[in-house]
Amino acid sequence: MAFAQGHSGTRSSLPNLRISRSRRNRAADALAYCELALLRLVKPCKDYEASYRSLLKEFETRRERLIPFPLSFPHANFSELIGKLEENSKGLGLPDGFVAHSTYWLVTDSEILGVSNLRHRLTPELRKEGGNIGYGIRPTARRQGHGSELLRLTLQKAKELGLAKVLLTCGKVNLASVKVILANGGALESEEFVAARNEVVQRYWIDLVQL
Ligand SMILES: CC(C)(COP(=O)(O)OP(=O)(O)OC[C@H]1O[C@@H](n2cnc3c(N)ncnc32)[C@H](O)[C@@H]1OP(=O)(O)O)[C@@H](O)C(=O)NCCC(=O)NCCS
Repeated sequence: MAFAQGHSGTRSSLPNLRISRSRRNRAADALAYCELALLRLVKPCKDYEASYRSLLKEFETRRERLIPFPLSFPHANFSELIGKLEENSKGLGLPDGFVAHSTYWLVTDSEILGVSNLRHRLTPELRKEGGNIGYGIRPTARRQGHGSELLRLTLQKAKELGLAKVLLTCGKVNLASVKVILANGGALESEEFVAARNEVVQRYWIDLVQL
């Protein structure tokens, strides 16, 4: 297996998948799309322990909020973390008011580039803020198309789960996330100031029937 043991997860170790927007650079575009095609979504597993820790370290070093929320789960005992995520995906071991949720990792052979979390159904609270899907990309792997790809692949999982449409919520000022949602067919439903977040939150629906 090609897993890098004790990998530090530095930027140079990650594939550069930035997609050129220049029409003249079609070869570069084709290469970038080929590389994106090598990415895949996996369920949490032991194989990526070192990369998971380096991803968390990147968020923490930049003092970024841990999104999606399972990134804040204790991870000192990695096997326990994997077990908890697996249980939660079956609706087990959840705190009051939480619905079953599945966590996925966007990976290369050796690195986790991003994490998504799919809530299996909506509650009134999630309907207002949170929605069906949360996602985050490792800071050093951003602006290379990974966020859009992570959401695209997670939408497929939502469809496999039997959902006909999903709700995405997003801070209005989070332009990167807004673009990721729009790139995946999001249709703005509403926006509202949410006091708990002290910001305007937008709600988008994505229809899965056409996927
Ligand atoms: C939101 C996030 C997942 C986007 O990931 P990403 O890998 O950078 O996304 P992409 O590379 O697919 O970029 C999507 C678009 O956003 C744009 N974009 C990326 N970062 C941006 C930024 N900081 N400001 C403005 N636009 C940005 C890209 O240029 C791209 O636009 P284009 O399609 O016009 O070229 C990532 O920034 C992140 O993890 N943020 C922290 C967690 C978070 O906010 N999650 C979403 C919660 S709602």
